[in-house]
Amino acid sequence: MGSLGGARTVGRPAGAWRGIVEEFRRDLSLPADAPAITLREGNTPLVPALRAGRGADLFFKVEGCNPTGSFKDRGMAVAVSGAVAEGARALVCASTGNTSASAAAYAARAGLPALLAVPAGDGAVAKGKLAQALAAGARLVLVRGNFDQALAAVRTLAAARPHVALVNSVNPLRLEGQKTGAFEVVAQLGDAPDWLCIPVGNAGNISAYWRGFCEYRAAGRARSVPRLLGAQAEGAAPLVSGRPVDAPVTVASAIRIGRPASAHLARAAVAEADGRFLAVTDAQIIEAYRFLARQEGIFCEPASAASLAGFWAARASGLIPEGARAVCVLTGHGLKDPDRAVAEGDAPLEVEATAEALAGVLPPGVD
Ligand SMILES: Cc1ncc(COP(=O)(O)O)c(C=O)c1O
Repeated sequence: MGSLGGARTVGRPAGAWRGIVEEFRRDLSLPADAPAITLREGNTPLVPALRAGRGADLFFKVEGCNPTGSFKDRGMAVAVSGAVAEGARALVCASTGNTSASAAAYAARAGLPALLAVPAGDGAVAKGKLAQALAAGARLVLVRGNFDQALAAVRTLAAARPHVALVNSVNPLRLEGQKTGAFEVVAQLGDAPDWLCIPVGNAGNISAYWRGFCEYRAAGRARSVPRLLGAQAEGAAPLVSGRPVDAPVTVASAIRIGRPASAHLARAAVAEADGRFLAVTDAQIIEAYRFLARQEGIFCEPASAASLAGFWAARASGLIPEGARAVCVLTGHGLKDPDRAVAEGDAPLEVEATAEALAGVLPPGVD
């Protein structure tokens, strides 16, 4: 590395994005001396919808562009920075997959071991997320139970151990980090949208966005706050029905949660925002998932598409009026769940390796 080697080269080109801990530090409740454990998360694109808007002015906040492919990285960067500042020796979490993928990466970055508890069972956690946790060398544990039971177990485990940091969204630093998604939406649009549509599982992210919008309005950085549309899968919709769900079922494994830990925060947020929780069927989720990939060019995971499915339902009922400005948060990347993508795709064709053979399978009308 010669004379340019060593710490001096670890800096950044002028103007480069530093990740949410440094970019938003003055707006985060994080000890001032906490190091920034960062993979340069945040600064994700806000992409205008071309075909999905149905008369509204719709945008997608593409959180799959975060370093581990989901919004969890915002919360994880702050939670792990705080954990390191407090002398944590290990991280633990329960997860439907994305939290574990993110925790594993940020643990690796921090040089800490991670214990990740995910539900056992075929299809309980999407393959890409398992791959991420394993690649990062975390201790992945399949627990015989659902997410809600796994979360209860890790909360009890961490409560008794001061050097074990729980990095689920019940850790207040997670929501602190995730509120930066709202900060970015305001900066990208010049103000808050009329509606924010977001998938809801454990209910941390919707609560975090609300906090972010309220803080920016209070600071005079936004004139308004949005109305919130929290989309849940029909088979896992405790915030719509008002009752916990003991055996949640949905194709959208990331939001297969029956007892949301932040239900109280999310209910308060939706009430203050004059918003709604709304249930969408698996068929509606998959329709939105396919549309996003095929008509908008955005490949997200099924749970993320619940936001668009919810938006469409709210447009159809008139809850979101024509011309309204709306943002759907697309929470995770489509590569997280390769099995679903393959199942929803058309079977590939196999032909001889010749131009003639390929010409025979050109799309109709192309010569
Ligand atoms: C891709 C994706 N979307 C949405 C959610 C729901 O977020 P929350 O649990 O904060 O409600 C999750 C949670 O795991 C997720 O992984």
